[in-house]
Amino acid sequence: MNTLYQFQTADHIISGQDSIKDIKSHLSVLGVNIEAVLIVTQPSIKDLGFVDSVKDQLIEKGIDVDVNTDILPEPTMDNINDVFKQVSQKDYDVLIGVGGGSVLDATKILSILATNDQQIVDLLGTDLIQNPGVPTVLIPTTSGTGSEVTPNAIVTLPNEELKVGIVSKYLLPNLVILDPALTLGLPKPITAATGMDAFTHSLESFISNKANPISDMFALESIRLISSSIVEAYQNGSNIEAREKMLVGSMYGGMALTSAGTAAVHALAYPLGGKFNIPHGVANSMLLPHVTKFNMDQITNRLSKIAEAMGIDVRGISETEAANLVVEKIQEWTHTLEIPQDLKEYGVKNSDLKELSVSASKVTRLLNNNPKTLSLEEIENIYRQLLA
Ligand SMILES: NC(=O)c1ccc[n+]([C@@H]2O[C@H](COP(=O)([O-])OP(=O)(O)OC[C@H]3O[C@@H](n4cnc5c(N)ncnc54)[C@H](O)[C@@H]3O)[C@@H](O)[C@H]2O)c1
Ligand SMILES: [Fe+2]
Repeated sequence: MNTLYQFQTADHIISGQDSIKDIKSHLSVLGVNIEAVLIVTQPSIKDLGFVDSVKDQLIEKGIDVDVNTDILPEPTMDNINDVFKQVSQKDYDVLIGVGGGSVLDATKILSILATNDQQIVDLLGTDLIQNPGVPTVLIPTTSGTGSEVTPNAIVTLPNEELKVGIVSKYLLPNLVILDPALTLGLPKPITAATGMDAFTHSLESFISNKANPISDMFALESIRLISSSIVEAYQNGSNIEAREKMLVGSMYGGMALTSAGTAAVHALAYPLGGKFNIPHGVANSMLLPHVTKFNMDQITNRLSKIAEAMGIDVRGISETEAANLVVEKIQEWTHTLEIPQDLKEYGVKNSDLKELSVSASKVTRLLNNNPKTLSLEEIENIYRQLLA
């Protein structure tokens, strides 16, 4: 375990059912004069009505509000640049992102583009952003990426068929509003995939080479909350308690990964998203049991602690048995949550595996966190297990 570790998060977090109904007072924590606001969202989220409620409250306060719905799921660099062109003529005092990780990441990047003389391509990597952005308010509608509390934003580079991260403290928002009511209508497949993404953040943070006491606390509590609610949230989406546990659990996952980082599951998931458009959470769910088995001999002790947090009865069994039960439970969830387990469903062929493996091997930022190093051949073997 590292002896030096750090943790940084959003400036303010307001959490609770119906918290966005009073957004106009929550914005005062920003301490800035607000005349014009841009809300960034997507059509399917705008249709739910929450965005109009936010807009109406701000208009009531005399604030000029624009809404942009053009950010695409898992946005490319070009998509974010196009939206920036549309909105850059006006000076906004605050950007409010209402959506899943795609919208939240795009909102963070738009805020940076507005105050920096830098293109997105100049920002790819760690600590390359020069100035803080326009103040941001992030309101997640999936549970989820945890993007609302991470210093990360992910963009897809279609030319290289890869997803790349921007990491900077300037991507942390000024205010987060967690309102589980926004997730009540989340469709089943998105509940499943985004929930498993959140679980993967916590599991990977807990077994990361950079795991530390702060990240462990968030990771274990996240695992506890998600394990006790993911199946219920999927099967009975209108259960607000389950939705709230998922939302808080996914935020804790974001906090854990901010300090400890994700590892090989995410590294291998990125090329599947970049080249085959496999949703981020689905790619992670597919890979999680296989990468965990690969890492098993190095992380048995840590997995046995995860087993306890998952509510698995570990009394009278060995650490190895408990660790194996974690993998079994994850596989059971992926069946119950009806998450695809075969890469062929997304058009992946045996002949694609070499190129996918080369792409994954370049995600060294995350592979370096993995408790075991992976050779190109080992990466390819893991992908092959997903081609039934
Ligand atoms: N910044 C980070 O720390 C971080 C971490 C993990 C993943 N990510 C990135 O986040 C993106 C994925 O985000 P995501 O998994 O939240 O999915 P998403 O934001 O792409 O949303 C998936 C779909 O669900 C819809 N949707 C969202 N909320 C809804 C709701 N409440 N009701 C109905 N429909 C809704 C969206 O419009 C979209 O079509 C990827 O680009 C991934 O790489 C970022
Ligand atoms: Fe993720």
